[in-house]
Amino acid sequence: MSASRPMVGGKVYHLMAGPGDVAPYVLTPGDPDRVPRIAKYWNEARPVATHREYVTYTGKYRGAPISAVSTGIGGPAAAIAIEELLTLGAHTFIRVGTTGALQEWIRVGDVIINTGAVRFDGASNAYAMPEYPAVASYEVVLALVTAAEELNVRYHVGLAASTADFYVGQGRPGFNNYQPPWARDIVNTLSSMNVLNFEMEAATIYTIANVHGARAGGVMAAIANRKTNEFVPDAGVDDAIRVANEAVRILHEWDQIKQGLNLRYLTMNVIRQWIMKR
Ligand code: URA
Repeated sequence: MSASRPMVGGKVYHLMAGPGDVAPYVLTPGDPDRVPRIAKYWNEARPVATHREYVTYTGKYRGAPISAVSTGIGGPAAAIAIEELLTLGAHTFIRVGTTGALQEWIRVGDVIINTGAVRFDGASNAYAMPEYPAVASYEVVLALVTAAEELNVRYHVGLAASTADFYVGQGRPGFNNYQPPWARDIVNTLSSMNVLNFEMEAATIYTIANVHGARAGGVMAAIANRKTNEFVPDAGVDDAIRVANEAVRILHEWDQIKQGLNLRYLTMNVIRQWIMKR
């Protein structure tokens, strides 16, 4: 067996999925339990594999081929998932996550669509120099915004900061109240720069997707607000899931129109045709 890109019985080593097991459009929550929760909205769903933190389901949602694959927590685990999903032919990634809002006006339970992410994740440094931006695909962002509008979900659009740690890395006091000087004012610093939220995987996923010419975006449920000091586990998670599933349906419809028009990118013409077909 080759050590450079190991496969076991024709399957990628960590996901334990093989060719044909994964759709081109993949939702990437962190939490393995969120995968069946995402798939329960689909018209068809089959469990593909469960290995370590990686749970994979594949199916169809309103005509679109779709998979959901958990990435575990943090950049390193997410990078492995994206690497292996690219190997299996995935081209579009939508992170469905939870997040801590950094603006007072964002309510717990709202969803946040992240156009880009500050790269405090660590893992993306393996792929690109610090100046390389972690940006979402404008097509994925537009599909997510369109889905949120159609579903009447309260949403915000803007930048995340993806950190390598939930506690000290996000300015929370660590064990024994440990707080290094650079973490003490991180919430206010990022908030003053109009960063909307903390989370832990978007920067890694967006960076790797851009390096390989794939598309990525993300919709996060604000379960916390760090300015108002509120925390409600699971608030907004079902809304984020519904928005992400619908965004896949919309992207798939746009991609079909693009193909018919021989276009590489989403244009107003594609959107006009899409509206006329509805
Ligand atoms: N996820 C995070 O990374 N931070 C939070 O505060 C909540 C969810």
